[in-house]
Amino acid sequence: MGSISVFPCVYLMFLLACISEVGFGKMVFNVMKDGAIADGNTDNSKVFQNVFNKACQSEGRNLVLIPRGTYLLAPIVLKGPCKGQVEFHIIGTLKALIDETSTIDINHWITFQYVDRLVLSGGGKLDGQGSSAWDDNTCSKNPNCKALPISLRFDFVTNSRITQLTSINSKNAHMNVFACKDMKFDHIHIIAPKDSPNTDGIHIGSSSNIQILDSTIATGDDCVSMSPGSKNINIRNVTCGPGHGISVGSLGGGPNEEDVSGLTVTNCTFIGTQNGLRVKTWARSYASSVFNLTFEDIIMDNVNNPIIIDQQYCPSRNCEKGESQVQIRDVKYGNIRGTSSSKIAVAFDCSKGKPCENIELNNINLNYHGAEGAVASSCSNVKGIANGQQQPGSCI
Ligand SMILES: *[C@@H]1O[C@H](CO)[C@@H](O)[C@H](O)[C@H]1NC(C)=O
Ligand SMILES: *[C@@H]1O[C@H](CO)[C@@H](O)[C@H](O)[C@H]1NC(C)=O
Ligand SMILES: *[C@@H]1O[C@H](CO)[C@@H](O)[C@H](O)[C@H]1NC(C)=O
Repeated sequence: MGSISVFPCVYLMFLLACISEVGFGKMVFNVMKDGAIADGNTDNSKVFQNVFNKACQSEGRNLVLIPRGTYLLAPIVLKGPCKGQVEFHIIGTLKALIDETSTIDINHWITFQYVDRLVLSGGGKLDGQGSSAWDDNTCSKNPNCKALPISLRFDFVTNSRITQLTSINSKNAHMNVFACKDMKFDHIHIIAPKDSPNTDGIHIGSSSNIQILDSTIATGDDCVSMSPGSKNINIRNVTCGPGHGISVGSLGGGPNEEDVSGLTVTNCTFIGTQNGLRVKTWARSYASSVFNLTFEDIIMDNVNNPIIIDQQYCPSRNCEKGESQVQIRDVKYGNIRGTSSSKIAVAFDCSKGKPCENIELNNINLNYHGAEGAVASSCSNVKGIANGQQQPGSCI
C-alpha cells in the first residue's frame, strides 16, 4: 500500500526535475549552479561570463537562468557568435557597481555582441544605480567629458527579442542598439527620474527592422532616439513620459552620415514630455536625408512641443549657427490629439537651403493645456498639405 502511494510522487518529482533541467527542450544553465551569489554585494561578472560562454557554445536551445535575488555585476561583454540559441532569462535583479567609471574606462554595463537569435526575458530588473553618477555628468559643459556607462548595449545583434524586462536608473542611456537587424523589444519598462541627465530610453543607430512595442518609458532624456542609419523602425503602443519624447536626430553632425528612413510611430501616448514627435538637425550641418516617417494615432497629454521639426538645433557651446543641409521629406502626421503645454503646438522650422518637402498633416486636434489660451502653429521653409481637422490652424 505504502509503496504504491509513494510511486506517483517519486515519478512526479523525477518529471519535474527533468523539466526544470531541460526546460521543455531547452538546456538550462542556472547561474546559481556555477557559484553566483545573490547577496547584492558580491560581483557575479565572472560567473555570468562563464555561464553565458557555456550556453553560447552549446547547440540547440539554451536558457541562462538567473533566479530570484539581487546580483551585483561589474561590466561584462557577452559575445557571440553562438553555436545554438541563447535565452537570457532574468527573474532576479541585476545591480550595477556604484562607481564603475572611476576604475574602468568603459561606457557600458552589460553588452551583447554578435549574437543571433538572442532572447532576453524573465520579468526581471536591471538597476543601473545611476543616482550616484548623475552628478559626475559634466557633458553639458565639458565637450571632453567621459561617457558614463549605458546599461544595456546590443552591438551586431540580429533576429532577437527583448521582452518583459525593467530597466531603472541607468547612468547614461538605458539601452543602445548599434548595427543590429531584426530586433523586437516588447513589454519593456524603463524608469529614471525626470531630471536625470542623458538617460535616454532606447537609442538606435546604424540598425534596421527594429520594433519597439507595448512598453512604457519614463526617463530624463529621449524616450526613443534615432541617429544616422536607423531604417525601418516601428514603434507601437509605447507610453513616453516624463522625458524628451521620440526624437530623430540630431542629424548632420558629421560628413557622410547614413540616412534615416522608414520610421512609423503609431498608437503612442506622451505624458508631460518636453517634446512629442521631434526631428532635429544641427543648425550648421553636413548633408544627409530623412524620409518616409509616419506618425499616427498619437495622444499628447500636456506636451511642450507636440509636433516639431527643428533644423536650427544648437543648444549650447561648440555648435555654430548656419544652414542645415539635411533634407527632410515625406513625413505624415495623422490623428494627433490632446494637449500642448506651450502655445506653439506645431512647429516646422526647416532649413532655408533644404526646405522640408511633402509634409502632410491629417486630422490634428491639439489644444492648450492651461486654463485659457489658444495654440498656434509656426512654419518656415516647409512644403506640404493639410487635410481634415486642423487645430491649431495649419501654416503649411
Ligand atoms: C499596450 O501596452 C501595454 C503595456 O505597456 C499592454 O498592457 C497593452 O496590452 C498593450 N495594448 C495592446 C492593444 O496591445
Ligand atoms: C516607408 O517605410 C515603411 C516602414 O516604416 C516601409 O514599409 C515602406 O516600404 C517605406 N516606403 C517607401 C516608399 O520607402
Ligand atoms: C491604434 O489602436 C486602435 C485601437 O486599438 C486601433 O483601432 C487602430 O487601428 C490603431 N492604429 C494603428 C495605426 O495601428
